[in-house]
Amino acid sequence: MLIVVSNREPYLHQTAEDGSVATVTATGGVAVALDALMRERGGTWIAHGAGTADRQVSDDNDRVRVPPEAPAYDLHRIWLTEEEEQRYYGGFSNEGLWPLCHTVHVKPVFRAEDWAAYQAVNRRFAEAVAADLTEASTPVFIQDYHLALVAGELRTLKPAARAAIFWHIPWPSTDRLRMCPWRREILQGLLANNLIAFQLERDRHNFLSAVREELHLEPTDGVVRVDGRDVHVVAVPIGVDYDRINATARDPRLLVEKDRLRRELRIAAPVVGVGVDRLDYTKGIPERLDAIDRLLTESPELASQLLFVQVGVPSRSRLQSYADLEREIDAKVADINTRHGRGPADGPIRYRKAALKLRRLVALFQLADFCIVSSLHDGMNLVAKEFVAARNDGDGVLVLSELTGAAQELKDALIINPYDGQGFTAALRLAIGMPPPERAKRMRRLRRVVAGRDVFAWASEILDNLQRLQVKRPWFNRVA
Ligand code: F6P
Repeated sequence: MLIVVSNREPYLHQTAEDGSVATVTATGGVAVALDALMRERGGTWIAHGAGTADRQVSDDNDRVRVPPEAPAYDLHRIWLTEEEEQRYYGGFSNEGLWPLCHTVHVKPVFRAEDWAAYQAVNRRFAEAVAADLTEASTPVFIQDYHLALVAGELRTLKPAARAAIFWHIPWPSTDRLRMCPWRREILQGLLANNLIAFQLERDRHNFLSAVREELHLEPTDGVVRVDGRDVHVVAVPIGVDYDRINATARDPRLLVEKDRLRRELRIAAPVVGVGVDRLDYTKGIPERLDAIDRLLTESPELASQLLFVQVGVPSRSRLQSYADLEREIDAKVADINTRHGRGPADGPIRYRKAALKLRRLVALFQLADFCIVSSLHDGMNLVAKEFVAARNDGDGVLVLSELTGAAQELKDALIINPYDGQGFTAALRLAIGMPPPERAKRMRRLRRVVAGRDVFAWASEILDNLQRLQVKRPWFNRVA
C-alpha cells in the first residue's frame, strides 16, 4: 500500500465532441513511471483533477479506480478553481520554481498572490492525504516542486505520518535560490518529510548547502536534525519501466505500428533521427534544430538522405514563455525545410505536435538511427532512458546533452553541449557515420545501465529507506 501525491494525474477523463468520455493517459516519463509503481503496489494516488469529465466519472468521495483496463489503485482527485490552477500551477510552480531550478535564462517570476495560492493548494493536497491515511505505516510519497509544502501541512494534521518527497528537477545553487523570496518556507516545508530524495549528488549537495546557509542547521552525513526529528537527504536517480518498454518492443504488433508510422510520416530517407520532448524551453529544441541546419548547410548532399522527426508535446501553453517557444520552433522548422527542402512542411524535418502512446513511441525509436536529447538543463531526462530501453535490436545512437542528469549514468552516449553549436554538429556527423559494431557496443552498455536501475529499483530504494527509518516512540504506529 502506498499513497502517491502529485500535481499531474496519471489518467484524465475527457468529454469528446459526441459527448462520450475518453480516458487519456498522461504522457511524460514521470507519470508513466509512477503508474507502473502503483499498478504493482496498489493504494491511492492523489492529484489535481484536470480532465473535463473527471468530476462526472469520480464517485462522491472524488475517487475513481484506475487503470481503466485493469483497475489496480484509487485515483483521488483534488478540484482547483481556474484561478487556483493559474496561480499555483502556472504562476508559482511554473513561472517561479521551474525557471528558478533550471539554469536556462528565463527569469523566475515570484508574485505574492501566486505564493498564497501555492500555499492554499498545498494545504488542500495535505488534507486529502490526511483523509486517506489511516495507518501511520502507509508511506506517503510526494512528487516534485508543485508540492513542496505538503509534508509540513500534513505533519500538523497527522504528526506521525511517514513522508518522502522526490524532487524531480535540479535543485539550484544557494546564490540562485536566493532569488526566491519564500525560500526559507520552502526549505522548512521540505524538511517536514522524513526523507528528501534528489536525482543527483549535486542537487543533494546544493540542498544541504541551502539548509546550512538559510536555516543555520548543520547536517551530519546527509541527516538534518530539525524539531527533534531526523530528516534524511539522499540522491536516487530515477529510471524507466524497462521491462514494459522492452515487452512492447518485442510485441509482434510493433511491426504493424512501424509500417503505419513510416507511411504517416513519409519516412523514406536512409538516415533517420528522432527527438521527443515536451515543448519546454529547457529541452534545447531550437539549439538542436540549429545543429541540424548547420549540418545540412555544411553537407548539402545530406538533405536528401537525412530525415529528422521531431515530436513536440504541447505543454503549459498558456504561459507566455511556452507560447513564444512554440512559435520559435514552428518558424525554425519551416525555415529549415524551405531552405533545405521543398517547402515549410516538406523538407528534412518532420515536425508533429502530439503526445505518443507507448507502442508508437517505441516504434518511432526503433525506426531511428539516432535520438537527440539536447536539454539546456534537465533533472534526469527519461526520454534518453526510454530510447535505450526501446532498442532491443541493440542498435541506435543516443546523442545526449551533458547538462542532463542522465548524462552522469549514460556514458556511452555521444555527449554534447547544446551551447557549443559546432561541437553539436560534429557529434551529429559522428552519430550518422558511426560503424555498426561501435553502435552495437555502445548500445549494449547503455542497455545494461538502464536495465540495472529501473523505476522499481528507484522507488524501492526510496520507500525501503523510508520504511527503515527509526520509529522513535511506540505510539507512532497509529496515526494521531
Ligand atoms: O519532471 C518535471 C515535471 O514537471 C513533472 O512533475 C511533470 O509531470 C512533467 O514535468 C510534465 O509537466 P506538466 O505536468 O506541467 O505537464
